[in-house]
Amino acid sequence: MKIAMLTSGGDCQGLNPALRGVAKGLYRLAPGVEIYGVTGGYDGLVKNNLHLMKPEDFSGILRQGGTILGTTRQPFKTMVLEGGELTSKAEQMIANYQRSGIDALVILGGNGTQKTANLLYENGVNVVFLPKTIDNDIFGTDVSFGFDSAVAKATDVLDAVHSTAEAHGRVFVVELMGHKVGWITLYAGIASGSDVILIPEIPYEPERVLEEVNARNMAGKGFTIVAIAEGAATKDERKLSKKQKNSLMDTAGGRLANRLQEMLEEQGSPQEVKLVVPGYYQRGGEPTPTDRVLCSRLGAKAAELIAERRFGHMVASVGADIVSVPLKDVVGKLKVIEPDSPVIQEARNLGISFGD
Ligand code: F6P
Repeated sequence: MKIAMLTSGGDCQGLNPALRGVAKGLYRLAPGVEIYGVTGGYDGLVKNNLHLMKPEDFSGILRQGGTILGTTRQPFKTMVLEGGELTSKAEQMIANYQRSGIDALVILGGNGTQKTANLLYENGVNVVFLPKTIDNDIFGTDVSFGFDSAVAKATDVLDAVHSTAEAHGRVFVVELMGHKVGWITLYAGIASGSDVILIPEIPYEPERVLEEVNARNMAGKGFTIVAIAEGAATKDERKLSKKQKNSLMDTAGGRLANRLQEMLEEQGSPQEVKLVVPGYYQRGGEPTPTDRVLCSRLGAKAAELIAERRFGHMVASVGADIVSVPLKDVVGKLKVIEPDSPVIQEARNLGISFGD
């Protein structure tokens, strides 16, 4: 059997342990297998940039961040034209796959990568997909790998901010990644004991945030930690068109969290308001033990699917099990936080404000 693997989209912790998991599983379950690495994600497949890998290549990478294969972003719109016709890029990938005699392609990626994976599958490529993203927004899996590690990093930042906020008696707004969803912010916010958590799924009002700051001062706390997701918006901002929002973002230096900082100061925050943006720190470094276990299990399950020649599936974590889910059932769907979900209610019970 000849298997190729690629990692595509933004990197995250866990890509290497997941590649290792697939490889270790394949060497056991499909004796004689040849594993090829595709360099730089889909771009590597377009350019036929494949190299034969050895079992040793997968040694010592369980703890390693990044991806030994490299990655690039290849938006879905560069794969398919309106009307469904494949672009030359997509055609090139399929041609290279067929020409090289590969039996299956293992793809590690997020939502955008998944769309292209499904497109390839629909066009005759034997695909197995592994869900990676710090954002945790992949539908059909309870959790994607990278999420736990990113929450750990984000929590680390919030914890550090906590002590300096307390020492100086300041308000800190900490903007966390997550694209269109608030999973990292919600979990890191709870883990760090943040006072206010602002997520895209619950539009907020700056006045409510200020009320929380004042209430904490009245209670003698004297500092406030606001964890805000990069995609969070006020109720007013939510009503804007995409164009209006983009121009607002431009004037706010590219991030809506800047606006929150300004609004809190303009509306009379009793304390200085500081903004912290940890950015890519959240995606870097070693995967947590929980992510290493998840990646290893997902990788082993992917190897099992390949050995059984079951393609067109995503491996997923559901409850205590690792299962396989048909790509067609999950593609194009986003896993958001339901505002009335138990975790939100529990956070509210703890006294956390969502600014609404
Ligand atoms: O999808 C992961 C993610 O880190 C998001 O949280 C963030 O919005 C985005 O990628 C950043 O993308 P890029 O790596 O292209 O700057």
